[in-house]
Amino acid sequence: MSHDPQRAVMEKAYARWAPVYDAVCGPIFLAGRRAAAAAARRVGGRILEIGVGTGLSFDDYDHTTRIVGIDLSRPMIDKAEARLATGRYPQVESLHVMDATQLEFADASFDCVVAQFVITLVEDPERVLDECARVVRPGGEIILVNHLYSEKGVGAAVERLFARVSRPLGLRPEFPFARLQAWADRHGGIGAIHRNPVQPLGVYTVVRFVREHDTAKASVAA
Ligand SMILES: C[S@@+](CC[C@H](N)C(=O)[O-])C[C@H]1O[C@@H](n2cnc3c(N)ncnc32)[C@H](O)[C@@H]1O
Repeated sequence: MSHDPQRAVMEKAYARWAPVYDAVCGPIFLAGRRAAAAAARRVGGRILEIGVGTGLSFDDYDHTTRIVGIDLSRPMIDKAEARLATGRYPQVESLHVMDATQLEFADASFDCVVAQFVITLVEDPERVLDECARVVRPGGEIILVNHLYSEKGVGAAVERLFARVSRPLGLRPEFPFARLQAWADRHGGIGAIHRNPVQPLGVYTVVRFVREHDTAKASVAA
């Protein structure tokens, strides 16, 4: 497993990405973004999006939800604020420049936390997941979408190779599901984990962690 990305590298990369992000990454991530937002709408209520980026996901929520978005990158949040200023998104409550490793929100203050194409890019993924679990209410969900590491075979070898050149670009193709499972096992407050490939191609995976009501042990449901 390679090192986790450094915060300074991410900030620099996304300052460069901000002007072209919607045109380049918007279509590539569309299916994954929609699948994660659909899962979040099923939970409903107050939703925190970490790494909200330019706010491409605003279109995927409706009046039944209230969205709070945070991102490390000022230039990405500037884009999201410009989108919000169109007046088309009354469901968006607020946007903040904030590091997901230190969420400035009270415990159990959200029904759901969503991270679309973010968890593989943060400096300390386990700490970010701890923070997500802290701010989500019992019975609420943490919903991630990402490309997850192939873990074996030719796919894994290609991803390892690509990883070396992609890191300075603020991308990370190699990240195993096993690491998410290990976090959930260690945390102890996760009642269930659901792992669903996004169709049609299954390139992305939506992972849902259900914050437990009681002391039931975590289990994986396909
Ligand atoms: C690939 S983009 C995804 C943006 C958006 N979620 C989407 O799907 O279009 C990753 C985002 O994560 C943000 N990010 C990286 N590390 C972060 C951190 N520690 N805290 C908050 N945001 C972070 C980046 O600034 C960037 O906007």
